[in-house]
Amino acid sequence: MQIGPIRLPNHLFAAPMAGVTDRPFRQLCKRLGAGYAVSEMVTSRKDLWTSLKTSRRANHDGEAAPIAVQIAGTDAQMMGEAAAYNIDRGAQIIDINMGCPAKKVCNKWAGSALMQDEPLALQIIEAVVAACAPRNVPVTLKMRSGWCEAERNALRIARAAEGAGVAMVTVHGRTRAQGYKGSAEYDTVGAVKAAVRIPVVANGDIDSPEKARDVLAATGADAIMIGRAAQGRPWIFREIAHFLDTGEHLPAPEVAQAKAWLLEHLHDHYGLYGWDDDGTGVRSARKHIGWAVRALPGGEAFRARMNLLGSCEAQVRAVTDWFDELADTHHRLPRTAVDEQGTQEEAFA
Ligand SMILES: Cc1cc2nc3c(=O)[nH]c(=O)nc-3n(C[C@H](O)[C@H](O)[C@H](O)COP(=O)(O)O)c2cc1C
Repeated sequence: MQIGPIRLPNHLFAAPMAGVTDRPFRQLCKRLGAGYAVSEMVTSRKDLWTSLKTSRRANHDGEAAPIAVQIAGTDAQMMGEAAAYNIDRGAQIIDINMGCPAKKVCNKWAGSALMQDEPLALQIIEAVVAACAPRNVPVTLKMRSGWCEAERNALRIARAAEGAGVAMVTVHGRTRAQGYKGSAEYDTVGAVKAAVRIPVVANGDIDSPEKARDVLAATGADAIMIGRAAQGRPWIFREIAHFLDTGEHLPAPEVAQAKAWLLEHLHDHYGLYGWDDDGTGVRSARKHIGWAVRALPGGEAFRARMNLLGSCEAQVRAVTDWFDELADTHHRLPRTAVDEQGTQEEAFA
């Protein structure tokens, strides 16, 4: 699997998720089998680049290559400048966001709203490619299947993007109008794959090794991208890799191993966001801990208790004790259905 000149270790990708796929989480996904992980979107608004939030998003210290940064915006020139800015800060691949339905983004006519204005979308693609080509940095595009049911224009946009020099497209098989409702469909992804020569990535509702196999087979896509199913379960990438290689399931992780991964993630997380009491580090870690335990026995009660803790040290102690207690009764994580409730609503709130 290749994006322009960049060769990837495999075709299992972690989806960009604002508020989730920061550097610590991307690192963890890559360590646990993702061949590729895209940053949370970075705004093209220059006035925000020095804000703490954006500078954290543009921080790639120690991140395993390739470093892929997603940019979002509505103005072609600003998007070209944002691409150059992020390349100067280590980006090796620039991804254009035409897939995000978040109101915060779409009200400003960015993200998936751009799919409704194809000439503007193309202008943006051309400006970003023009900024990246002299630096030998490939440009990729992430979009939905269309704007609404009647306007599934992913195919037209993919063809235009390929013509403009885009190196890979990802299609989430839902329309903008759908938000996250209903099920993803993969016919549009397959149609895009059949229509272009650049690599195509299938995305949407892939949450198990079997689903990964079926989506790859149904679409002919070159890779799959996983978002919500990796929340609290970043080892899904190696589970899928193992299943695609051997047809067999990996056993669930040992409780002690899951604890070690979570603690390692938390330390990395506090390192980026700070160890202050009641600060960003402790607050933003809560969702990751919650996702990690929600489907485990007693997980919901622990999550409620843990949400009241105001220091990173207390979080680390509580997580350690909770997993140690679970290890008294379980050697491996019990295989419970992953609780789908409200992950994106929380994050977009
Ligand atoms: C919390 C959250 C944040 C997201 N943020 C972004 C984003 O910044 N850029 C983007 O292109 N898509 C974003 N998405 C969409 C995902 O990349 C992905 O396309 C979508 O979740 C469908 O894949 P899944 O079913 O595997 O989760 C976000 C999704 C979620 C749930």
